[in-house]
Amino acid sequence: MTVSSALFTEAQLEALKAKFQQAGQGHVFTFFEQLDVKEQEALFQQLSELDVQRLNQIYTKAIQGAEAAAQNQAASLEPLSEQVFDSVLKASSSTLNDWETIGLTQIAQGKVAVILMAGGQGTRLGSSAPKGCYDINLPSKKTLFQLQAERILRLQTVAAKYATDPNSDIVIPWYIMTSGPTHQPTYDFFRANNFFGLKEENIIFFEQGKRGLSVDRKYISMMINGYLLGTLPCLTMDGKIILETKSKVAIAPDGNGGIYAAVQNKGVIDDLKKRGIQYSHCYCVDNCLARVADPVFIGYCVSKQTDCGVKVVGKAMPEEPVGVVCVRDGRYGVAEYSEISAEVTEMRNPDGSLMFGAANIANHFFSTEFLERVPTFAADLEYHIAKKKIKYTDLETGEQVVPKSNSGMKLECFVFDVFPYANRMSVLEVDRKDEFSPLKNAPGSGADCPETSRRDIVAQHVRFIEKAGGKLVGDNVDNFELLQFEISPLVSYGGEGLEDLIQGKTITVPAVIESVEELVRLAQ
Ligand code: UD1
Repeated sequence: MTVSSALFTEAQLEALKAKFQQAGQGHVFTFFEQLDVKEQEALFQQLSELDVQRLNQIYTKAIQGAEAAAQNQAASLEPLSEQVFDSVLKASSSTLNDWETIGLTQIAQGKVAVILMAGGQGTRLGSSAPKGCYDINLPSKKTLFQLQAERILRLQTVAAKYATDPNSDIVIPWYIMTSGPTHQPTYDFFRANNFFGLKEENIIFFEQGKRGLSVDRKYISMMINGYLLGTLPCLTMDGKIILETKSKVAIAPDGNGGIYAAVQNKGVIDDLKKRGIQYSHCYCVDNCLARVADPVFIGYCVSKQTDCGVKVVGKAMPEEPVGVVCVRDGRYGVAEYSEISAEVTEMRNPDGSLMFGAANIANHFFSTEFLERVPTFAADLEYHIAKKKIKYTDLETGEQVVPKSNSGMKLECFVFDVFPYANRMSVLEVDRKDEFSPLKNAPGSGADCPETSRRDIVAQHVRFIEKAGGKLVGDNVDNFELLQFEISPLVSYGGEGLEDLIQGKTITVPAVIESVEELVRLAQ
């Protein structure tokens, strides 16, 4: 054929075709000659950006991993023994105090940041808006983003007491990872809400898997082992690239493990280093109880000289949709709920507890040094297979097919896939009622839904008051689904600072406490 594009020469096209041919993926050019110039250019561009050899390697490894797991998962996994993790439920109050002091001191020294993974879409929740914008019907109507922002604001104040200079401005930078569909709505939501009282310069939005500038920020373009992660082509069950149309490869986001490429590509690591950040707390957007930048967790991990840490809670029941932290082939890992066999989930200890019972609540600790080191082993990371109904173009007829059953696979990398590469991994068990209430499902579904999120926050705030020696009176004081009571994170992050104000006093509900002054006024 004679090439009429200004984008590529005939020789370049032939070279690209040869590369795909050699990799057994030459079919992507099936319709090339039928396309108009614009379509040819679009396909040429998409294929030029693809490291097809690397894609084949990812596929082969994912298949091998899945086959090995299917053969004898029970034999390859070991539960965590009690000796290898610590627990806030069992630690003495002086140990907890020590961890917290270490954490707050690190925060006061400006060494701690938070990284929020907010690239997922709330498909199961049935909302098209970013999950963090969701109103879980709290009495205050605060969204998940607002709760998290206010926890950061409060911690900055609490940590000020640990600073050598009491007048210094304590900052916990907040890095928010978005994705194509969530990026602009997330940024717009923060702007419309005046960044919830945080300084705009300390909230850094960065988009997973897209080249280009994040909001007002430069990024450093860097490929990881020759492959720009973020999205990957969808494949047939036998590893062939799927054409969505004659001129477009079907692609899908590569999962929350895309965070590692994003922090490299979008300048996050540079920013962390520029700010002198040594440790980051990384968490999922959908847990309304997330203890953002939790000083206890930070202090625990720092005291253990950890480079990679994770929080767990006791798994509630075998079928709970959570990954479990365990040991695989001698190294820490997570067996994700979508991959673990029913046999393994049901295994029990002699005392009846679940053998694989350390549920991952997707709260991670990373040293900056560790985040920086990920590219050195990124090529070895194993991808996970998610079989899906993927639209494809029939190579014989050229017609697009919308399949009714799974037609191919998406390949995903998970945030915890890096655990085996940590030099010193730490696992901290925390109290589910204080730290884990995920928002996954649509209203009315009865589990991990807006109603349970609201209930668990209100119940926690009631516990704060009771622990501080106060009491609530009025309607629905025992029914946390209906009770109209809330205490702003701006007043208390984890129940601290309340005792002196409310011990022996009573608060009449409904009451939404937004400030210390309001608390003093309402506590009689
Ligand atoms: C996740 C954990 C699971 C854990 C559970 C606890 C992973 C892979 N799995 O499962 O082990 O027990 O939480 O609730 O972490 N996200 C992105 N980009 C993406 C995909 C997801 O930023 O491409 C974000 C989402 O916005 C969310 C988080 O990653 O904040 C978790 O994603 P999700 O798919 O909801 O994971 P779960 O299935 O809930």
